[in-house]
Amino acid sequence: MKVDVLLGLQWGDEGKGKIVDVLSANYDIIARFQGGPNAGHTLEMDGFKHVLHTIPSGIFHSDTLNVIGNGVIIDPFILKKEIGLLKGRGINPFDNLVVSKRAHLILPSHRLLDAVNEKSRGNEKIGSTLKGIGPTYTDKTARNGIRIGDIFAPDFRDRYNHLKDLHLKTATSTGIDPTQFSIDGASFEEYERQWFEAIETVKLIKQVDSEYLINEALKEGKSVLAEGAQGTLLDVDFGSYPYVTSSSTISAGVCTGLGVSPNKIGKIIGVFKAYCTRVGSGPFPTEQINADGEQMRDLGHEFGATTGRARRCGWLDIPALNYSVMINGVTELVIMKADVLSCFDKIKVCTAYKFEDQLTDKLSYEAVQAEVTPVYEEFEGWKSDLTKAKTESALPDSFINYIKYIEKQTGVGISMVSVGPDRLQTIER
Ligand code: GDP
Ligand code: IMO
Ligand code: MG
Repeated sequence: MKVDVLLGLQWGDEGKGKIVDVLSANYDIIARFQGGPNAGHTLEMDGFKHVLHTIPSGIFHSDTLNVIGNGVIIDPFILKKEIGLLKGRGINPFDNLVVSKRAHLILPSHRLLDAVNEKSRGNEKIGSTLKGIGPTYTDKTARNGIRIGDIFAPDFRDRYNHLKDLHLKTATSTGIDPTQFSIDGASFEEYERQWFEAIETVKLIKQVDSEYLINEALKEGKSVLAEGAQGTLLDVDFGSYPYVTSSSTISAGVCTGLGVSPNKIGKIIGVFKAYCTRVGSGPFPTEQINADGEQMRDLGHEFGATTGRARRCGWLDIPALNYSVMINGVTELVIMKADVLSCFDKIKVCTAYKFEDQLTDKLSYEAVQAEVTPVYEEFEGWKSDLTKAKTESALPDSFINYIKYIEKQTGVGISMVSVGPDRLQTIER
């Protein structure tokens, strides 16, 4: 068996969580391979809505094992909260959740550093979720990090204090007083206290060598789906640097984030919205800072699942989608949220950019950093409610044309169509 991969092709929030939940019934294992609680994956079923940050989106399926892989970074305080919320829904995550001993810990002082770094950037802010992502991955690659497996070590406290002191020194050296920042409304000391309490809860999660677990499961014929966080255009190498996150969000990240070789990768399922959104700073060629963008935001409820921030909205960007298809080797597409566009008479799609008086359909190093002007093609809107459609034959012709156009432009088939947030509002083609 091979590991199938599901990931986002835009700037995150494409609807990955919903589709992983839908597909979980077909998989033995769901594994997160990168990112941390900067992610917010929304699941809707039986009239309720649930947001996951660290725990994989297969957790509502009791027969599915959920793996937090070595490439993920973990804030115990946030993870404990997630566990509590699941218990409130009658789910006991200790039954079907395991965590890699190699996954790194987000310390309270990583979060403090994140805030200090953002503040010191002045007008050039990344728009980080301030969950400590950048500083934690920095410590991982600088070989200073502390891992989940270390929480049982007798010198855990000492190592924690050593790293914290280093962070506080770094923060103070920027000239910004780190004590002026609170973390999720709590003082540093209070957050630290709760963080250590949460470590006791994290100790109850079964720790594994997830690379062995997954490779042995594949040998036994078990099916595995890797769940991406963020999106391809936020990838640390291929996103609009420096307005990116600090991990490999692309299919290659599955190999390092779970310990599986490239020849064990199977299907690569790319999820995208029928339009585009971005939260945080950075280039967004098709952004609509006008009534169209506001309508997308209102009807699509485009507010961050992690931070509540309003998401920037704009038309579908084919050059960017093709870039993501290329980088990931996408083998099938899933289109999300076309129901949100039902109010528009005309739907626009960007097919190329005008850059230095030339037309290009490439996200070159130069084009990504320049002010490019999108060139649009216009489509008839579908002007009908898609949310009740159960089969492809119930979808209007104008929407089917839109789907076929995207398939032609990308060279990849659309295998699923999502027409609403609920797990049942999903059409397989
Ligand atoms: P993720 O981070 O990729 O898992 O996506 P988020 O959960 O951050 O954001 C997607 C949002 O769109 C959530 O509020 C979902 O409930 C919602 N959603 C998912 N699919 C659809 C859809 O097809 N139509 C509509 N209207 N909402 C959707
Ligand atoms: P999911 O998994 C959307 C964005 C932030 C910011 C940049 C860097 O829900 O799709 P970071 O906190 O990583 O330092 O922020 O990346 N970002 C996301 N945007 N969805 C996400 O995750 C995101 N995770 C990070 O807004 O612009
Ligand atoms: Mg999200």
